Formats: sequence, C-alpha cells, structure tokens
Amino acid sequence: MKNGHTDILTIETSCDETAAAVVRDGREVLSNSIYTQISMHTLYGGVVPELASRSHIEKINHVIESALAEANTTLDDIDAVAVTYGPGLVGALLVGVAEAKAIAWAAGKPLIGVNHIEGHISANYIEHPELKPPYLGLVVSGGHTHLIIVKDWAEFEILGRTVDDAAGEAFDKVARAIGLGYPGGPKIDAVSKEGNPDAIHFPKAKVNGSEFDFSFSGIKSAVLNYLNHAQMMHEEVCAADLAASFQKSVVEVLCDHTVAAAKKYGIRQVAMAGGVSANSGLRAGMKKACEENGLELYVPSPIYCTDNAVMIGVAAWHEYQKGRVSSWDLNAVPGLKLGER
Ligand code: KG4
Ligand code: ZN
Repeated sequence: MKNGHTDILTIETSCDETAAAVVRDGREVLSNSIYTQISMHTLYGGVVPELASRSHIEKINHVIESALAEANTTLDDIDAVAVTYGPGLVGALLVGVAEAKAIAWAAGKPLIGVNHIEGHISANYIEHPELKPPYLGLVVSGGHTHLIIVKDWAEFEILGRTVDDAAGEAFDKVARAIGLGYPGGPKIDAVSKEGNPDAIHFPKAKVNGSEFDFSFSGIKSAVLNYLNHAQMMHEEVCAADLAASFQKSVVEVLCDHTVAAAKKYGIRQVAMAGGVSANSGLRAGMKKACEENGLELYVPSPIYCTDNAVMIGVAAWHEYQKGRVSSWDLNAVPGLKLGER
C-alpha cells in the first residue's frame, strides 16, 4: 500500500498482444504498455499460435519494465501481481502465467488470476465510475459473444452466447473472403463507411435454444454464397457495399438481442465490451437503439475495447476486494468460462 492506494501490476498475453499495466484502486491507469503482434500475423492472414507464444516470450520483460517505468513505480511498491489465465491460446497464456508467478513469488506479493472475459467487461469501469451492477453486458470479441447480467461486482449470469462463430471471428472471416486481410474487424469497419448498408440483404439466423443466443456462421455463409454466385455469373462485387451490408446485419442482431433482454429483465443500464465494440457501426447502432428504448449505454474507448492489460487490472482489483487470490499452482485454462474459478 502506497499512500493508502492499492497498485496492481497486470499482465495479459492471451492472444496476440503482449500487454502490461499498473492500475491503482481498480480505476486509475498509472500505465498501459502494449506490444501488438498484428503485423507479424498479418503475413499469415490470422493468428499463428506458436509464433504468438514465441513473440510473447521475447517481448514480455520489456513490456513489464515499460509499465513499471511509466507508472513511476517498482515491484517493491506494487501490492499484487495479476494475470490473465484464460480463456485464450494455451501457449500464449502460459507465458503470462509463468511470468506473473515468478514475479509475484520473487517479490513476495499476492498473485491474482483473472478471467479474460471478465477483464473485457471491467474495461467499462475505467472511464465510467458511475456504472454499477446490476447491468446488462454485451461482450463481443474475437473469441466470444456473450449477453450477460452483471449481477454484482465480479458476479455474472449468462443469458445468451454464440452457438457457432464469435462476432469478431465472423468479421475476420468475411474480411478474408473479400480480400481485406487480417485483422478483419477494423478493415470492414473502415471500408463500410464507403458502402451502402442496404445494398444487400443478408438473412438473420434463427437459433434453437435460448432466445438470447447468437449465430453468426449463417450470415458469414450468406456472404460467401453471395461472393461465389457473383463470381460464377462474372458479376463485379462492390466490397464496400458488401462489407457495409454484412456489418449492418451483425449490428442489428446484437442490438435487437440486447434491447430485448433489457426489456425482459427490466434493466436500464447496458455496457458493451470486447474488440468488436470498437466498431463504429455497432457503437452508433447501439447508441440509437438504447436512446429509442430509454436505456443508458456504456462503452469503453476503443483502446480499452481491444486486448489490453488495464482491463485485467481493473477486474483483478474487484477479485482482490473479494479476497480471491490465486495459489502458486495457477495454470493456464484455455477454455475458462465466465464466472468459473
Ligand atoms: O477483444 P479482442 O481484442 O480479442 C479477443 O479477446 O478475441 O477482439 C479481437 C476481435 C477481432 O476479431 C477483431 O477483428 C475485432 O475484435 N475488432 C473489430 C474492430 N476492432 C477489432 N471488429 C469490428 N470492428 C472493429 N473496429
Ligand atoms: Zn480479448
């Protein structure tokens, strides 16, 4: 404790960003250090797990040193060390977990294992101190699509999830199909601005199961069929119209489910999180849907939507407040579910 504050050093290596941060009292960002591997994976059209792990090993010490230096602190003054231990790529997660364990052990500090999805949700607390549970959460990332009720700090009830592709995965696959490359989400977002979202109608999938479950592989297949058909007929495809129409249909499904859940459960606060919540179409569409339905919307700044260590530090603080610290046998759990410990 430094002047009555709790400073947590946090590490995030679940996918293709090597990140470290120092977060004070679960809210104040003392530093935010990120090394992104995107340019390396772009060469292969997607994340190559083995390369991701190796790159994390190469960069992690430097990223942590930068985070401590930027926060003007040292390991002695840190109160705890937090790390993402799942879900994610096993080799990538292991780098962060091993590093955090070694640092925490050597410095004699508590270790806090954090769920990556809980981290994404917690990103909202960085800039919105007024946001308090209960609220409705929509997590849309490259690996996950969850509609949840945040019942209390670090307590969740899942209302719906994707039954096939995650929202970000659909963006990435469609981008690849129309030749935009990796990472697809930001590219589709940019290209959509030049296109007509009403040019092509892509059907929305019906999902058997929870009324709040999602399916994105249907929309993705509809796009691929459209492309194949156009190729067969020697018709030219306007990539901007296709991207804009695809984005519109994904945004509509996400907004419709969110508003329906808010009505059903009588919840007035909605928070979005995850890489896809950086999407300008989704931000605008959800803002409009919430305004029309008397809901308050919270979204992190784009930098806190995609993977970063600050959000992990915020989640770690809430876990720490509840007395939840990890033991020295903490391991990477690639398939870790939200709310699972
Ligand atoms: O949350 P995130 O950084 O990593 C995971 O936990 O998966 O999300 C990455 C995903 C990728 O699929 C990426 O294409 C998507 O988020 N993404 C976007 C945008 N920025 C990132 N999707 C749509 N529009 C964006 N602007
Ligand atoms: Zn993520």
